[in-house]
Amino acid sequence: MRNVTPDTLTQAFADYAAKAEDPRTKEVLCSLAKHLHAFVRETKLTHAEWMAGLMALTRAGEITTPERNEFILFSDLFGVSALVDMVNTPPGATSCSNLGPFHQRGAPPLPDGGDLWKGQPGQVMVVTGRVLDAATGEGIAGATLDMWQNADNGFYAAQDAGQPAKNYHALLTCAADGTFAFSTTRQQPYTVPYDGPAGDMLRALGRDAWRPAHLHVIAEAAGYRPLVTELFLEDDPYLDRDAVFGVRSDLVVPLGTMRKAETPAHLVARDRLPDTVLHAPLVIRMARA
Ligand code: BEZ
Ligand code: FE
Repeated sequence: MRNVTPDTLTQAFADYAAKAEDPRTKEVLCSLAKHLHAFVRETKLTHAEWMAGLMALTRAGEITTPERNEFILFSDLFGVSALVDMVNTPPGATSCSNLGPFHQRGAPPLPDGGDLWKGQPGQVMVVTGRVLDAATGEGIAGATLDMWQNADNGFYAAQDAGQPAKNYHALLTCAADGTFAFSTTRQQPYTVPYDGPAGDMLRALGRDAWRPAHLHVIAEAAGYRPLVTELFLEDDPYLDRDAVFGVRSDLVVPLGTMRKAETPAHLVARDRLPDTVLHAPLVIRMARA
């Protein structure tokens, strides 16, 4: 098409896609073009501004490695990752939330009742929980929880040469009634990486880079949709300003204390627990596949 105008360009893009093989690909890309065009019209974007954006993407490409993906960080900081999570959470199921960059494949197995803490510094926390069918409320036998969190110094194992490679990473298999328990230390708030172009965006907007403390979980069970989520502690000071918009009310865990004598009898580290520990009760609801 020649002589396109600001008003006909979006339709021209769609017309050019007439021979697209996959209708969903066409729908998604034409919608993306429509919204990009609307953004340019609405803001009357200048050449300099568009070039600044393209240069930020160029720098994102330059610093992206298998360990650090600046494009995903942009997606997180724009809230797009959170929105994709929200529109893909099945009704009644626990909300999906950020995977983040620190998941490691092949987490070491942790028995039900296991010890993720291993005597490391931090406030000892006993986590008890249930994995339930979102529709029936029944426990899901043998559900697995791939979990990871940061150490008391705020760093994940992958960020900290002082920690063993899979420190605070674990794959736990729930009991036949879907219950589980383990001991750990309280997770800590931390900042997302802000030394790249995504950090420049935070600074330009006067935003900070903090995330509230959280436990990452990937829950899986035969016949159920895998659930990628994270669970937050109710007294965290950053719950209302998470840099990546991951906090949903059903992900905020009530936090209490428990005397050692009240902790589950099968906790591997029970004898080593201090007299009073933090207690975080979790409920994870999974939707059928
Ligand atoms: C995280 O939760 O580990 C994370 C999520 C998004 C960006 C950076 C870190
Ligand atoms: Fe995290």
